[in-house]
Amino acid sequence: MSSSYACPRTHQPLLRQGDALVAPDGRRYPIVDGVPRFLAYPPPDDGSAERLRRALALAPRLGWRDALAEDMSDPSAVAYVTTPQRAAYVELLPLGPTTRVLEVGCSLGQGTLALARRAAFVDALEVVPEQAAFARERLRQEGVSNVAVACGGDDCRLPYADERFDVVVMNLVLEWCGQREPGPFLEAQRRLLAEAARALRPEGVLFVATKNRFGLPYLLGVADEHAWQLPFGSSLPRWLLPSFLRATGRPAQPRGRLVSFRRLSTLLHDAGFGAQRAYWAAPDARYPAAYVPFDGDLAARRAALPPAALAVRRRVRWVVPHLPAALLKHVAPSLVVTAMRGPAAARPATRRAA
Ligand SMILES: C[S@@+](CC[C@H](N)C(=O)[O-])C[C@H]1O[C@@H](n2cnc3c(N)ncnc32)[C@H](O)[C@@H]1O
Repeated sequence: MSSSYACPRTHQPLLRQGDALVAPDGRRYPIVDGVPRFLAYPPPDDGSAERLRRALALAPRLGWRDALAEDMSDPSAVAYVTTPQRAAYVELLPLGPTTRVLEVGCSLGQGTLALARRAAFVDALEVVPEQAAFARERLRQEGVSNVAVACGGDDCRLPYADERFDVVVMNLVLEWCGQREPGPFLEAQRRLLAEAARALRPEGVLFVATKNRFGLPYLLGVADEHAWQLPFGSSLPRWLLPSFLRATGRPAQPRGRLVSFRRLSTLLHDAGFGAQRAYWAAPDARYPAAYVPFDGDLAARRAALPPAALAVRRRVRWVVPHLPAALLKHVAPSLVVTAMRGPAAARPATRRAA
């Protein structure tokens, strides 16, 4: 198997010409250090890109793990991209020796390896060029040959042909997507989900995990990284949040957009997804100790979890055991859903861009 790239704007197949993939209408997508680049906007060159370039340069000599540790001073940042527990969601997915997977937002490849070991082929897409390049090097060093890493998605369009995948994975990506675009975040999220539906075969499965706007940590005043560390952050009314941000000396524009349980369900439905199954990622989807389906015996499963698995913060841990099971899905820190793409006739057509 190989990757199935297509023009992200017209979905036409691409032909390789030298160091580029070329669409029938002449659009060219360069291949930079082995990674096809489908970016619609110039990538911002911040300090983290420079650090990753250094780590990438060190990786062939030191090995990817030591190169990262050398370059990242914060051990929690290293843990985030190395702890196997981070990819525990693979157990929820229908993976097997013939499964084709698309992973959107692969970052440094922390989930890609686990996916590749259980699937026939993985296409991994990452919006940050340095992260995509590092993921490719990491997978090369791990001896993985069934993954193709590409860089793109900044316009929330996917550079893949229609109906190519059995499974699409978006782990903690939806809340960040669309940050380089001028338009509203909601439109970007809608487009990305519609693109996932387009790239999935009928009855293919989307896995989406995203932070809950009304998650208990925010409701109890924990600082929100999407709102520049403002306590309560995304749980504040959307019309009020910019004023609070400005009044406290922060940029008025939040970083990305968090949704509620109901909103996510509606977004998925509108994008053409049918049956949905929701899970409680305990304590959250960043470091899940367990995924508990909300349609099972939640109370019994919750009672069996050790206190540390109930919540990351002590003030939240105190509340979780007392919540009615029906309420927990609305206030869990993370929203985790598998959703099946409906049949072609029920699916709204993804608008092709001119
Ligand atoms: C919070 S990280 C999660 C990474 C990984 N999925 C995981 O589970 O650890 C989000 C990643 O998604 C990437 N990303 C955000 N929006 C994207 C988009 N529209 N297309 C592709 N990647 C995107 C970010 O650059 C970042 O690497």
